[in-house]
Amino acid sequence: MDRRGLTAALALLLAPAGCEPRVELKPGDPELVRAARQLFDSRCANCHGPHGRGDGPAGRALSPRPRDFGDRAWQASVDDAHLRKVIVGGGAAVGLSAHMQANPDLADSPVLVGELIALVRACAMGQDAKGMSSETEKQAP
Ligand code: HEC
Repeated sequence: MDRRGLTAALALLLAPAGCEPRVELKPGDPELVRAARQLFDSRCANCHGPHGRGDGPAGRALSPRPRDFGDRAWQASVDDAHLRKVIVGGGAAVGLSAHMQANPDLADSPVLVGELIALVRACAMGQDAKGMSSETEKQAP
């Protein structure tokens, strides 16, 4: 899928409920995985870093800093419901830093949020360094 295709997929995924009929994408669908990666790169990496290490340019300046998603002990200590709550509702929703902003537009895209969670989880599985944004990096003009 080219960049325009990705944008179209994202637009569909993020379309407000009730407007257009939505394309039903299943978890793990390649289009969905790419859309989630692109979303991570555009909306999360600035703080969390391209590979979820908490070392994005904006993230490094924050206190507390975003944690390293590669931390397995932390991964084991949080369930997906918690991650979903943080991603959609923001840090403040779970008593964390409000610098972790809410993403209310994702509330209507649970499958896409699930794919973002899978990306966060992948950081502790050794897939982080290469898997995460390599695709979108390759596609850069
Ligand atoms: C403006 C910077 C910023 C952006 C953008 C941002 N985050 Fe965060 N995020 C943070 C900070 C800071 C924390 C740590 C909060 C704390 O420990 O109090 C955090 C924490 C988290 C956590 C972990 C919560 C925990 O239990 O420790 C997850 C998961 C997360 N962010 C996912 C995302 C995702 C996915 C995106 C993109 C949709 C995103 N963040 C965008 C700053 C950001």
